[in-house]
Amino acid sequence: KPRLFSGMQPSADSLHAGNYIGALLQWKQLQRDYDAVFSVVDLHAITVPQDPATLREKTRRTAAQYIAAGIDPSASTLYVQSHVPAHAQLAWVLNTITGMGEASRMTQFKDKTAKQGADSASVGLFTYPILQAADVLLYDAEIVPVGEDQRQHIELTRDLGQRFNTRFGETFVIPEVSILKETAKVYDLQNPGSKMSKSGETENGILWLLDEPSRLVKKIKSAVTDNDGSIHYDPVGKPGVSNLLTLLSVLGGTSVESLEHEFAGRGYGDLKGAVADAVVAEFGPVRERALELLADPAELDRVLAVNADRANEIAEATLARVYDRVGFLPRR
Ligand code: TYM
Repeated sequence: KPRLFSGMQPSADSLHAGNYIGALLQWKQLQRDYDAVFSVVDLHAITVPQDPATLREKTRRTAAQYIAAGIDPSASTLYVQSHVPAHAQLAWVLNTITGMGEASRMTQFKDKTAKQGADSASVGLFTYPILQAADVLLYDAEIVPVGEDQRQHIELTRDLGQRFNTRFGETFVIPEVSILKETAKVYDLQNPGSKMSKSGETENGILWLLDEPSRLVKKIKSAVTDNDGSIHYDPVGKPGVSNLLTLLSVLGGTSVESLEHEFAGRGYGDLKGAVADAVVAEFGPVRERALELLADPAELDRVLAVNADRANEIAEATLARVYDRVGFLPRR
């Protein structure tokens, strides 16, 4: 089977609807046809300050949510990034073939530092995309299923892989990005002009996977819409309504067009009710399962350790190839 790689940062207690719909749903689908490797990328998380005890907890919670959402840790490889030293080691090598100019063009860094300025950001946040390239290239991944916001990072991954191959000889598989058009970007319910994000400013705009059902319903009922009163898909003119239609379409398995027919002449309250039902039906069981898994952290840690062994085997082989190609003296 061809290899697949993807990951998420353990940067909040819960994943959100953007993570779930943009990435996890794809992962779940693709894991059947691919030799899938899914990482909880804690090395990435520390590029912004983290409280150590909380980070450990968030890492477990993220892993538990992968499993609860349907990632099978005995068929796929589900591990914690810091358990595999080769990520940091390959990132160093890739740092040395990345230009300052191309690293400076990464829009996510610019967005994340827009407010406080780049000078107060860590160098780690700046080189973050290079570590991400190392993640993907280490596993000879052919595809990387992500949301739209990761497109540029995977483009850089391809560039660095190709550059290394050209300079040092065929070493890396060059990956393709997999982004589903309909779910590439889920928007904040309170601020439907911006993507739903863990660092979102409005708590009510974010649907957390681990939210209690009643909270999910409340947030959906108070989602920002518009005054036009008609239900149709128009992401520019009607971003709030369009976002709700996307959520309902993806979770209910109905096309946006048939939803437009179904809701023609009906009010936003009806649409929100249907979205709330669909979200609660989808997230509810995931939440229950995740809480069950988290009730036995020792077992979860055991599963992660076994998976880390598998990940290490693949990653070490790639790193050995790289070290040889760049001309490092073998230890003996
Ligand atoms: P992260 O942790 O921010 O997000 C995890 C995944 O969720 C997707 N996503 C969204 N999709 C649709 N709508 C949204 N509002 C939304 N918000 C987030 C992201 O696109 C992502 O797929 N840099 C990555 C983590 C990473 C990684 C990797 C991914 C590190 N190494 C290697 C792939 C391959 C990140 O911060 O994702």
